Amino acid sequence: MSHQVSVWRAAQLVGVARGVLQQQVRDGSLLINDGMVSTETLLALYPSAKFEESGLLERVAQIRDEAFGKRVRERLLPSQEVLAQRLFAQSQELGDVRRHLQRYHELVIALQKAIREQQAGRPLDVAWQALERQVTRGLATVLATDAVDLLEVMDDMLKIMTAQVTVHPSGHQFVVEGHSNLLQSGLHAGLKFNYGCGNGSCGMCKVRVISGDVVKTQHFDYALSETEKSQGYTLMCCHTAASSELILEMLEAVGPQDIPEQEIVAKVRAVTVLAPDTCLLQLQTPRTHRLRFLAGQAVSLGCAVPGQADAHTTYSIASCPCDDRNLLFFVARDDADPLACQVFSGNLVTGSPVTVRGPGGVFVLSEGHRPLVFAACDLGFAPVKSLIEHALALDAVPSLSLFWLAMRADGHFQSNQCRAWSEALDNFEYELVTSTDVIAGAKQIALAMRADLFDINCDFYLSGPAEFVNTLTEDLRAAGVPSAQLFSQVM
Ligand code: FES
Repeated sequence: MSHQVSVWRAAQLVGVARGVLQQQVRDGSLLINDGMVSTETLLALYPSAKFEESGLLERVAQIRDEAFGKRVRERLLPSQEVLAQRLFAQSQELGDVRRHLQRYHELVIALQKAIREQQAGRPLDVAWQALERQVTRGLATVLATDAVDLLEVMDDMLKIMTAQVTVHPSGHQFVVEGHSNLLQSGLHAGLKFNYGCGNGSCGMCKVRVISGDVVKTQHFDYALSETEKSQGYTLMCCHTAASSELILEMLEAVGPQDIPEQEIVAKVRAVTVLAPDTCLLQLQTPRTHRLRFLAGQAVSLGCAVPGQADAHTTYSIASCPCDDRNLLFFVARDDADPLACQVFSGNLVTGSPVTVRGPGGVFVLSEGHRPLVFAACDLGFAPVKSLIEHALALDAVPSLSLFWLAMRADGHFQSNQCRAWSEALDNFEYELVTSTDVIAGAKQIALAMRADLFDINCDFYLSGPAEFVNTLTEDLRAAGVPSAQLFSQVM
């Protein structure tokens, strides 16, 4: 008998991005019923070879393998308390199913007996005989051992290892794995939750549990009122899912207008030279004061400069909002930029304070299911990297393409990152372009886009100097791309 799973779980089971299944739902090759996919349909679309590639079998084997021991259990499995609660819930469900089956079985046996008694000592009645044969045959079929539905087994096992959370009213979904709390899991899935401290002090991550159970993962100081507790409110940063399915009610940020202005004193975690004229600056915020931002946004960075008032420069964040404590920035050598001067002179070292103000900017990912095409020039790669990482976390984009123009000698300072994405993902491709003339470079990218199975039904994100952005925008508009699908940032 076919088993029903959500699209999110289906993607996990067959090892493809959720966006791939959503695309198949839209083009009609995958049928869903009330948001659920039958394992039969899934297996027909993804034969067993694909299923084995999902890595789930390996993950199960890893758990069983003693050699992986503590490391695997810590990474993959929730705490013993959570595991016990989920096992208990599943055992209850199993007990209910067994009880029902037993009663149905008794009912069929009683029916079979009653039919036989009806016939006893009477003239042969063809209709009664046919009915008796049908009941006997049906019972034999039900009692015969069916082949195990592997997807169903894996789904049951995943329900214990990971919990699936649905957010109302948006319908967004995410999974909770290992020891992660609800807030961390949602942010890792690319969702735009409302939160502040991340450690149970501010109450900003308060949500209402509509169905399912949560369990506390850490102590919190914020006091929920008795009314809030009775209405099912909880703090996402201090709780995880105790049941395998959870429904939460909350308001999520929609766009940059929902993200508050913040000021944080972060510390330099590392300065890494990526190329002769480009450094990677890693900042770490205090544990209790993280930066809430959207992928693609920028902040103003300020550091102490001897003999001068603190000078601030705007930098695009080059990391994903899912890691809100560790912020990455690409800093190019620039004598007019006081922060860059401090970085390149070696004055900004591990532990130096840097004031972070923001975030700002509207170059953020629009909600939708279209393939994404990114074009960046030099340091325009920073917000694009953040957007790509966010899109990957969302796992709902059918494909991503990146075109990166370098005008400086060391312009492709993260080509290894592009290669890593390309090797790890089936749905990511990139092209590196070099030109000292920004307009010629932009035109080269426009040509490359058109040569590369050009489809105007994509969302285009352009980031770089004005000439670069304007040249590409004009070309894409001329090719018929609607303005609503063009997003750009001049920097
Ligand atoms: S984010 Fe502050 S209490 Fe959860």
